[in-house]
Amino acid sequence: MPCKLLFVCLGNICRSPSAENIMNHLIEQRGLSDRIICDSAGTSSYHIGSPPDRRMAAAASRRGITLKGRARQFEISDFESFDLILAMDRDNYADILSLDSRGQYRDKVRLMCDFASHHQEKEVPDPYYGGVDGFNQVIDLLIDACQGLLEYAIQNYPS
Ligand code: 4NP
Repeated sequence: MPCKLLFVCLGNICRSPSAENIMNHLIEQRGLSDRIICDSAGTSSYHIGSPPDRRMAAAASRRGITLKGRARQFEISDFESFDLILAMDRDNYADILSLDSRGQYRDKVRLMCDFASHHQEKEVPDPYYGGVDGFNQVIDLLIDACQGLLEYAIQNYPS
């Protein structure tokens, strides 16, 4: 059974699609596409069906990453479908856990920044209302966290 990872932010047009596509890029580089599967979702319904934000896509492409996918909203069945649910910030984390009323899935939900080793940030900041620098910083932070997450997945979910 492949390991299934779900990246979650607010809108599913900036941070979580970036995390998903960066992770897929690293997985392909390592030849692990049959072992680790990625998806992303938003806690809100604001942008359902939308492609990734253009500013986010531009920042990703400067690092050689193409952002694919369409926004969807997090749903309760995702708790069962995925092995790990990676929240971009503490609001996302709390919003996800608020849907797990019995607390049975709480160990699956983690903060993305816990897997970063070269950045001190505890959260992936919301870049939506900021400038270009914010989008670039999100990509660099996510590359760091995705590298750590990949090692974690390889060690903890052996095929
Ligand atoms: P994301 O960014 O959660 O990283 O996709 C945002 C996208 C849209 C909004 C906020 C954050 N919004 O308020 O519409």
